[in-house]
Amino acid sequence: MKTFPNDFMWGSATSSYQIEGGHNQDGKGPSIWDAFCSIPGKIKNGNTGNIAIDHYNRFEEDVALLKSQGFKAYRFSISWPRVLPQGKGKVNEEGIQFYNNLIDALLKHDITPVVTLYHWDLPLALQLESDGWLDKGIVDHFAQYARLCFERFGDRVKHWITLNEPWVVAILGHGQGVFAPGRVSNSEPYLAGHHLILAHAAAVDVFKNEFNHQQGIIGMSNNCDWREPLTDSDDDKKAAERALLFFVGWFADPLYLGDYPEVMKERLGNRLPEFTAEEKELIKGSSDFFGLNHYTTMYAAENYGKNQGGNVYGNGGLSEDQNVDLSIDKSWQLTEMKWAVVPWGCTKLLAWISERYSYPDIYITENGCAYDDQVEDGAVHDSERIDFYRGYLQACHEAIQSGVNLKGYFAWSMFDNFEWASGYSLRFGINYIDYETLKRIPKDSAYWWKKVVSDNGV
Ligand code: GAL
Repeated sequence: MKTFPNDFMWGSATSSYQIEGGHNQDGKGPSIWDAFCSIPGKIKNGNTGNIAIDHYNRFEEDVALLKSQGFKAYRFSISWPRVLPQGKGKVNEEGIQFYNNLIDALLKHDITPVVTLYHWDLPLALQLESDGWLDKGIVDHFAQYARLCFERFGDRVKHWITLNEPWVVAILGHGQGVFAPGRVSNSEPYLAGHHLILAHAAAVDVFKNEFNHQQGIIGMSNNCDWREPLTDSDDDKKAAERALLFFVGWFADPLYLGDYPEVMKERLGNRLPEFTAEEKELIKGSSDFFGLNHYTTMYAAENYGKNQGGNVYGNGGLSEDQNVDLSIDKSWQLTEMKWAVVPWGCTKLLAWISERYSYPDIYITENGCAYDDQVEDGAVHDSERIDFYRGYLQACHEAIQSGVNLKGYFAWSMFDNFEWASGYSLRFGINYIDYETLKRIPKDSAYWWKKVVSDNGV
């Protein structure tokens, strides 16, 4: 058996819009996802997060399930418009109370809360009034919102994540338009990304200056798949490196190295905004740990300019900016999301991050898979999911052995939930949700988790 360090953080992750429901309960304001879901054709089967798994009303049951399945930590996000219905100004005390109750319930069960401030549900008011992430004013609004959260919850919450996957907000929300706020542009992603980084840094500044006594840690969670060079050629190796820099380097380089990757500056010209010297100072070092959401791997090859203005394959970002061709090996197994299961890509990515950013503490804040799980005789046998987790956890173990400072791992996810534009058609959970009755049925992986966590090993 491969054993993990005793203090390894074993958790599961969720986000507010994907599980809470209660979309207009107790004074919550609308978010851009509430609005986006109301546009016909944007979400598969016209699904919405209006009810989701009704976690807002059933969180106690959910916390008890987390406990029963052995989880020691739980990553959830705060819905900004639930606590600040207009994004700023008047506080909704009932929203605050909900998160107080959730945090208290977790602590009562010895489960460490890990709190994300922004998992994509921007208050709609801020989008309508000032174009959300496209306006620099968002930086201050986010810092104020963060201050409120530190003030109200920081006595009990010691692990904070400012932003979940700014790449997705930028590319899927402002480039391809497939996620809220649904904008399509080849320059707005870089402007939105710029403000996301500044907002992160502003929130961390508030935390370090005003709440240092709370002795918490704070960082950002970035998504990144591994990019393996298709061949040994220098061109393909460079293409794979470039793809990683456009993916995670975009957000991590400023935080760890003080500025955007050189290759992005060269290729994007004035579509990539610049940081002032003062901003660079604030941004550099603004992360106590590296949060990584990792799901899959693709081959990367030099494209030799063939796809100028061309299409996007998978998680390629704006491919014409990178000139990278992405592909997968036909022999790789695919999840229901059509993402390839390639555990060795995880080990390689952890090594790449460690080398580039001088061995930071890393938490895998999401990793998981969707499968077409079926209930048979009252049970779900999700053996593929168990294999997936075993493979990726072994990959993590290997990384730790080779010197990576991996401190924790969060499975995505505890429950089947609203999978954004795919609605409820994809099942990522280790608990099955019957969306008619909202009943939770543990899958085989739930029992497996309990064993892994109690043994600290795979
Ligand atoms: C991540 C995201 C989650 C979840 C997951 C599975 O990008 O943070 O909210 O949807 O992917 O697709």
